[in-house]
Amino acid sequence: MNIKKTVLLPLITAGLLAAAPGVMAAKFKMALGDAAGGTQWELGQTFKTLFEKKAAGKHTVDLFPNGQLGDEQNTVNNAALGTLDFSVLAINNVTPFSPTVGVLTLPYVIQSAEDAKKLTQGPLGKELTENTIRDAGVRIVGWAYSGFRVLTNSKKPVTTVADLKGMVIRVPKNEIMIATYQAWGINPTPMAWSETFTALQQGVVDGQDNPYITVSAMKFNEVQKYITNVRYLFSLEPLIVSESVFQDQKPEVQKAILEAGMEATEHSYKYLLETEDKIKKDLAAKGMQISDAADGEKEFIEKATKAVWPKFYESIGGKAKLDQALKSLGR
Ligand code: MLT
Repeated sequence: MNIKKTVLLPLITAGLLAAAPGVMAAKFKMALGDAAGGTQWELGQTFKTLFEKKAAGKHTVDLFPNGQLGDEQNTVNNAALGTLDFSVLAINNVTPFSPTVGVLTLPYVIQSAEDAKKLTQGPLGKELTENTIRDAGVRIVGWAYSGFRVLTNSKKPVTTVADLKGMVIRVPKNEIMIATYQAWGINPTPMAWSETFTALQQGVVDGQDNPYITVSAMKFNEVQKYITNVRYLFSLEPLIVSESVFQDQKPEVQKAILEAGMEATEHSYKYLLETEDKIKKDLAAKGMQISDAADGEKEFIEKATKAVWPKFYESIGGKAKLDQALKSLGR
């Protein structure tokens, strides 16, 4: 466990240190896969502010953006081992460790930000949190709502499934996303997030998908020209805490973590609604060319849902899990 615990010296000057003498202070570390300025950063910063206030200055959280503490999937391992305290990462990078979470990443299950909120904050979200503790040794204490992952590329406008032919598209190392592109007729290139910008820049891959806010925070507009509004995957980015670190905390600190996580989640939702459109306009102003998928995305939707959903029934815990998700969304 890496929490640096310091026995605080007795206060010499009132107000210099907020903690009482003898109180153990923890300096928590939080990993972020993305650069500062996106939805991960917004969630992490809000959590930090709220948690530090609730912990009355006794404990602090430091954010390490840009994959400084390791690739997103590695941060799950490190948190499970207790060598990292917190991480904010895309849900698709949690699925390999806790496959039932995949119900949230099946293509076109989530069709709006409201759907995303309903699923994560309803009974299914609670169940998935329990599952990640059991399977991956990490606890989800908050969510960043990052918007739909749009497809970017450096070659040409893409509006139909056929336009993808011949393109090299990077995807995370996530079976559901790989299967989705295969259903659209191409074999995508699975690659760690930390390697993606360089691969786009050097032309090793032509494109990738991520939300508008992430595209902007990562400055992908410098290496990508075209955007297609596909809505196959709504990007949910959980804030996870190492379960062993969590269990080591006093009840009042656990309470502060859970409350700060919930409040930061509410903030994240508002932030998305207030920010996404502005970012989209800004990317267009910077020269990105934005297209909608043809035909209301019909072909993308049909091909993906038909081929991909049944392939993953078993790993998400049975078709009943998908039915439960759809029912809770009124479908
Ligand atoms: C990925 O594409 O690997 C992730 O979605 C990146 C992210 O966390 O923003």
